[in-house]
Amino acid sequence: ERESTVSITVVGASGDLAKKKIFPALFALYYEGCLPKHFTIFGYARSKMTDAELRTMVSKTLTCRIDKSENCSEKMEQFLKRCFYHSGQYDSEENFAELDKKLKEHEGGRLPNRLFYLSIPPNIFIDVVKSASQSGSSKDGWTRVIVEKPFGRDSQSSAALTRGLKQYLEEDQIFRIDHYLGKELVENLSILRFSNLVFEPLWSRQYIRNVQLIFSEDFGTEGRGGYFDNYGIIRDIMQNHLLQILALFAMETPVSMDAEDIRNEKVKVLRSMKPLQLEDVVIGQYKSHTRGGVTYPGYIDDKTVPKGSLTPTFAAAALFIDNARWDGVPFLMKAGKALHTRRTEIRVQFRHVPGNLYKRSFGTDLDRATNELVIRVQPNEAIYLKINNKIPGLGMRLDRSNLNLLYASRYSKEIPDAYERLLLDAIEGERRLFIRSDELDAAWELFTPLLKELEEKKIAPELYPYGSRGPVGAHYLAANYNVRWGDLS
Ligand code: BG6
Repeated sequence: ERESTVSITVVGASGDLAKKKIFPALFALYYEGCLPKHFTIFGYARSKMTDAELRTMVSKTLTCRIDKSENCSEKMEQFLKRCFYHSGQYDSEENFAELDKKLKEHEGGRLPNRLFYLSIPPNIFIDVVKSASQSGSSKDGWTRVIVEKPFGRDSQSSAALTRGLKQYLEEDQIFRIDHYLGKELVENLSILRFSNLVFEPLWSRQYIRNVQLIFSEDFGTEGRGGYFDNYGIIRDIMQNHLLQILALFAMETPVSMDAEDIRNEKVKVLRSMKPLQLEDVVIGQYKSHTRGGVTYPGYIDDKTVPKGSLTPTFAAAALFIDNARWDGVPFLMKAGKALHTRRTEIRVQFRHVPGNLYKRSFGTDLDRATNELVIRVQPNEAIYLKINNKIPGLGMRLDRSNLNLLYASRYSKEIPDAYERLLLDAIEGERRLFIRSDELDAAWELFTPLLKELEEKKIAPELYPYGSRGPVGAHYLAANYNVRWGDLS
């Protein structure tokens, strides 16, 4: 049988994402023995660099996080020897033909499989795909292309991008990354739900009162304002990361855990939601704040942000799924930068126990007695369930305590970075965690009218101090649906 080989070309090799995430993830996969026997990594970018210079650049980003021993530095050396560089323009067929020649040399007649990671701004995706498709795609092996958001700014521009890519690629060659899908606890959602009898039957309006998806960061845009201002938090986090989690959480039981079956269900649930209205959201923007003698800059103080920008750095939203399972259950999302903490979690608040015998022990506030399942995606990955329990002793006092699965105490192995999972899946052709074009369309449909309206009406965001818990408007929004944010109570 003919041996095969995989070449991974990182287009935009000197960019931030490549340095921070892609090369380190590739090294981690190599270290773990997950890369195929024959593989080559190419960096491609405009700047002139030799192979040696690329290796120096890459070596600075690699850490022996798994293993600090000699063995690790040895592996690093071996890994770097498999890394090469080719300098070229993004729209030059000639430059990609040169790359193709080099790739062929490395492939040495083996069955060639090629993965291109487009770690570049989306406005040049099509140039690259076009130039590379003339020469760079593999004729007998597979060719796959990984792309990452922003996939446009709205339904229209996203559809145009998809059309552009599909001039040169088949849908099954396009791997759209949402790196939140590669996070361990997001991947675990389906296991938690579908393989536990104590959860699976409860997953509906009958038992679940509301679901909260919360993303918060304790730092601002810090020089990334140029990119961020064009998108804002709704496009940066909600329309993709949080909505993807929601779709996975709420989808109907798929026929199997195969990629197409899962993605069919995700699209269905996305299509069962109504596009957001202005009254379903609250937007905010952080302002400068002085604490302990330190002044933290506001969003508009970021030099890369245009003066007077109304771009939201915070948003809270309520979404509803119009189907039999979820009718009337609010799915609340909250995403913000420059808040008091860095945390992403999913909170599932259950209904009250009908005729609860211990009602009186909770005073008038029965909400204090509801069960809540919390999936902490990061940091300190954990799953915990709030249950009611008797405080030990002769009296009869109840307490809401946690059944707590803290990953760091239960599992000794370090959790891989999301990009490791996703790169490995792309190499193996596993599409489960990548976004299909109809999912992307459905996701944009939900947010496009709202985004247009916010921009057309120049809706001013509510200001909140850097490092605070965000605008109070989020509290009122939740209260409209009889919900309390679990992370604040
Ligand atoms: C990115 C956003 O997709 O996700 C950033 O563009 C955000 O604004 C980042 O900071 C958060 O990712 P993580 O994995 O660090 O939580």
